[in-house]
Amino acid sequence: MALKKIAVFVSGRGSNLSALINRQREFAYEISLVFVSKKDALAIEVAKDENIPVKVLDKSTFLEETVLIDELKLHEINFICLAGFLWKVPSYLIKAYPNEILNIHPSLLPKHGGKGMYGMKVHEAVIQHKDTESGITIHLVNEEYDKGKILFQTKIPIEKNESPLSLSKRILALEHRYFPEVLHRLCTNEK
Ligand code: GRF
Repeated sequence: MALKKIAVFVSGRGSNLSALINRQREFAYEISLVFVSKKDALAIEVAKDENIPVKVLDKSTFLEETVLIDELKLHEINFICLAGFLWKVPSYLIKAYPNEILNIHPSLLPKHGGKGMYGMKVHEAVIQHKDTESGITIHLVNEEYDKGKILFQTKIPIEKNESPLSLSKRILALEHRYFPEVLHRLCTNEK
């Protein structure tokens, strides 16, 4: 079966991007294009090191349909992954890729999701609320932040004396393990 071509959208350091790239040989996809929303994002180096075309987006290009869609078509992109991407996805993109955009979130949605909930803020909220568990959610993207159909969740217990930092490290390890697998399943249509 032909490999599915993936575009990854990133805003930050790109450790999930690395995980997706590192495991693509095992799976039914290839990372073909990377879009970055910050010109100093570490993710740019991750893509360059792998010779993957990388484009820095400014907000107006992102919101303007033709440029991005042309680029995605040019690279024959089948699916999109948001891997720590902070901008809201515009409707034209959701319509162009219905049920084909995947996001990863570092909590058990619907807990600790929504606008402004990203990075350490999520883990701080988990500790502050005295939650007994946390985890990751991998979901399809629709028009509302963090509310698309959930494809995968897994949990871990909060340890005694857990800090947001220690929790963030344990959660990140889960993300790296499962994001490539869930993307593979989406690409191969497995439930
Ligand atoms: C991850 O925790 C992901 O769940 C969230 O943003 C973070 C991105 O980290 N959406 P990285 O850039 O992949 O290292």
